[in-house]
Amino acid sequence: MKPSYNASVPDPLLRYRSEFPILERTNYLISNSLGAMPRAVYDSLRDYADTWAIRGVRAWEEGWWMLGAEVGDEIGMLMNAPKASISTHQNVTTCQAVIASCLDFSGKRNKVVYTDMNFPSVMYFWEAQRGVGARVHMVKTDDGITVPLERLLNAIDEQTLVVPISHVIFRSAYINDANAIIERAHKVGAYVVLDTFQSLGMIAVDVRALNGDFACGGVLKWLCGGPGVAYLYVRPDLGQKLEPRFTGWAAHQQPFNFEVGPIRYTDPPFRFMNGTPHIPSLHAARPGIRIIREVGVEPIREKSKRQTAKLIELADQRGWRVNTPRDPEKRGGTVSIDMPHSEAVCRELLRRDILVDWRPQAGVRLSPHFYTTDQELEDAIASAEEIVKERAATAR
Ligand SMILES: Cc1ncc(COP(=O)(O)O)c(C=O)c1O
Repeated sequence: MKPSYNASVPDPLLRYRSEFPILERTNYLISNSLGAMPRAVYDSLRDYADTWAIRGVRAWEEGWWMLGAEVGDEIGMLMNAPKASISTHQNVTTCQAVIASCLDFSGKRNKVVYTDMNFPSVMYFWEAQRGVGARVHMVKTDDGITVPLERLLNAIDEQTLVVPISHVIFRSAYINDANAIIERAHKVGAYVVLDTFQSLGMIAVDVRALNGDFACGGVLKWLCGGPGVAYLYVRPDLGQKLEPRFTGWAAHQQPFNFEVGPIRYTDPPFRFMNGTPHIPSLHAARPGIRIIREVGVEPIREKSKRQTAKLIELADQRGWRVNTPRDPEKRGGTVSIDMPHSEAVCRELLRRDILVDWRPQAGVRLSPHFYTTDQELEDAIASAEEIVKERAATAR
């Protein structure tokens, strides 16, 4: 049978492979969880250590204090965000907390609408806001892959305050219709928090075209930026008026005056930050973000569509269940395959240095990135098939 993916396309993106040491030793198909570390992170962290060692406390005024905003702008270029509209934080959960602290749940408009396909940490956060008056409405998936759009849109009503929603679903790679959700929310006066963790760097994100209110995500997956840095975009008109209660001295107009009493908010992005920034993580994040900008999201996306189609085809040939949309326009960078004994298959693949992961209701998640070869996909699936057959043989 002739494959439906184009198996013979030249792949100029493979020239970046040498930038990622782990690719020399492993079949790295787990960029949906932790992107491969760029070699340049060694230099970046050495610079950080040298600065600390040689400049000591002077480092704050010579660069460290502004670093969070600079890295925010670098991330912003990937999503067409205006300068100074992105603050940086430790993780996405913290970003939700900053946003929630700008909102008032004591009035009639206190409904939070989200889906059970959101990342659990984001769910746990909003569920916990019931304690301060939030009325939480969860829209459930029917098939474990997609989000029922009409039901979600119908749930967003005049009493809805905020809609925290994943752009790309972590479990299935389903791409939510961000335009439709934002349009509906704005019609009834609600805010949308778009979690772009699984989309930015993999599929096009344009916050100006979307006209969303907030966007957030982390850099450790598709942006190859390592743990410890999340970004929060706030639309500039909102950024001028919102007043986060989760705040601190970084958000003060004159932090080094150490004024006593209530805060006087500065402008974004510092307005949405709070305490001392996470300098080492910001240093580590930069090389990955730079490489993604250099490679370009469009070629990454094109390659991803081709390689995820290939994975689906390889799974279909073996009769395995695919828990990921088949329409490439609805599919992000991951293919979830629920082959027999998928959890045990995942464990054995890891033992063989084929790095994937397993999630309940999803199966084995495989996530090629711009540095992945077609051969690596074939090897991973062939190994999985071998493991399935071995287990079947020992069960007999
Ligand atoms: C869509 C999405 N949101 C959020 C997270 C993580 O949130 P946090 O940065 O708070 O750990 C993940 C994955 O780890 C994710 O896939």
